[in-house]
Amino acid sequence: MKFAHLAQGLVVAQSTLVLSASALSPPPFARAIRRAADFTFDLFQGPQVQDDAAVEAATDLTYTTGGGIPHPQPYAALRAGDNGPLLLQDFHLIESLAHFDRERIPERVVHARGSGAHGYFQTTTDVAKKYSAADVFQRVGEKTPITVRFSTVGGEKGSADVARDPRGFAIKLRTKKGILDWVFNNTPVFFIRDPAKFPNFIHTQKRNPQTNLKDHDMFWDYLSSNAESLYQVMRLFSDLGTPDGFRHMNGWSGHTYKLVQDDGSWHYVKISAYTDQGVKNHTNAEATKLAGENPDYSTQDLFQAIERGDYPSWTVYFQVLTPKEAETFKWNVLDLTKEWGPEDVPLQEVGKFYLTQNPENHFAEIEQAAFSPSHLVAGFEPSEDPVLQARLFAYPDTHRYRLGVNYQQIPVNCPFNPVANFQRDGAMVVDGNQGARPNYPSTQEPINFSPRPHSDGNHTEWVGGAIRYLSQVTDVDFKWPLIFWNSLSDTDKEHLVENLSGHIGDVKSETIRNRQIDLFTKVDPDFGSRVAAGVAAAIAAA
Ligand code: HEM
Repeated sequence: MKFAHLAQGLVVAQSTLVLSASALSPPPFARAIRRAADFTFDLFQGPQVQDDAAVEAATDLTYTTGGGIPHPQPYAALRAGDNGPLLLQDFHLIESLAHFDRERIPERVVHARGSGAHGYFQTTTDVAKKYSAADVFQRVGEKTPITVRFSTVGGEKGSADVARDPRGFAIKLRTKKGILDWVFNNTPVFFIRDPAKFPNFIHTQKRNPQTNLKDHDMFWDYLSSNAESLYQVMRLFSDLGTPDGFRHMNGWSGHTYKLVQDDGSWHYVKISAYTDQGVKNHTNAEATKLAGENPDYSTQDLFQAIERGDYPSWTVYFQVLTPKEAETFKWNVLDLTKEWGPEDVPLQEVGKFYLTQNPENHFAEIEQAAFSPSHLVAGFEPSEDPVLQARLFAYPDTHRYRLGVNYQQIPVNCPFNPVANFQRDGAMVVDGNQGARPNYPSTQEPINFSPRPHSDGNHTEWVGGAIRYLSQVTDVDFKWPLIFWNSLSDTDKEHLVENLSGHIGDVKSETIRNRQIDLFTKVDPDFGSRVAAGVAAAIAAA
């Protein structure tokens, strides 16, 4: 079956029902009766038939209604007489209109534009095993099925995928011990370190409430007043902000996570995925041209590469710090606006992943994918980074809104190991709803619990009352922007200055323009004066 990869999660969920029932001795009453009957009904025969049929050619199938009833002619609305009104009894017409009316689900509030593919992650070294009890890293050479979705951030679902924007880089690993999601971006840092800013920051990158236009005044008003964003802004307006498709860019966790061992010892980690295709970017002129001529460039490039067997791959690295090292590290390790340079914390290879399989159906396999930084397996834990902590809540919250409370039953999100808990019912249960198993911790049919992989006492202890977390900007916030500026070639500097000048030149407010230019001047006076000159020239030319 072509869909075996995706359907495996559902099959496990279904077969568990049968297994758990037959493993009981003596079986509970209801189940004994069910098996004594000479006719047994298989609830999953229908889904199985539909799944098998999904890969058959239309020419091998006969047109039916949603209920499988063959229907002769779809273009034949039933009406009373030659010029009469429609008849409500035309179920086919009603069903087809009603389904069409409900085709759209909410698009992602950010990262709405994206595409993706399936493949596998392979553990290539025993480095990760040294630090983490996560099952996925324990056996060198083992392959774990993955789904990856790449995206832009600010644009709507139909917007150009070559736009200047960070790129999302989300990876779903179906480990033997549950789903592990790495919800990364193609940048090692982010615009904020206080999560309270996120919704407002995003509003300024989207559309003006009155004009419904992208608004450069809003855009720079926010950024110029929140200077911790500087390093990310400079990366975004360099050519790194317009990558050449999705295959030629790196991915980073950005956040610090914790790797935990069975004995409770733990380390801080940042994770990165370096493209094996080499980094390639578009210039602003190329990206602008493509946005007009082929706004689906990145989607097409990924799909076609996999179709011709040119499977893209990335090498995954960990950067690891002990809790002690973190205390004296040059930046706060929980500050998402600061990178850990590889010269300070070496990159250690842990694995590789490959994209080898295009989706058969984009909506089912990519649009419905639900990635969350809170989908973490034993051996992997969140750090106290406030932005990460906020994300742990936000993603499943949006999934329940966008896809429904049972979003984890959708095949692309379904784990490959059995789910056994006390969650039941809710909209759109599409598996066996955990069958006849008790929906509470029963003493009659007790469920098993896994031992904790570590002792809680070994974790950080927090002392103090509630405080307001304010992310004041200090001189330290100008260090990475300067490191970045100094690392650029003359051409890269030219492009950064040009890209900024054109964009800031569209800002109507002189106060906002000057506030942003002052920040660049504080990074490096030469950088600031070059942007000031570029902006003046852009205004004069307008
Ligand atoms: C407070 C900060 C943040 C909040 C509240 C937030 C919230 C969200 C929400 C609500 C979505 C839509 C999810 C969906 O509908 O499935 C999303 C998508 C996404 N976010 Fe964030 N985000 C934050 C910061 C970040 C950061 C720092 C990163 C990367 C390091 C990131 C990476 C992504 C990616 C890759 C997606 C798209 C996932 C997909 O392809 O389905 N976000 N974010």
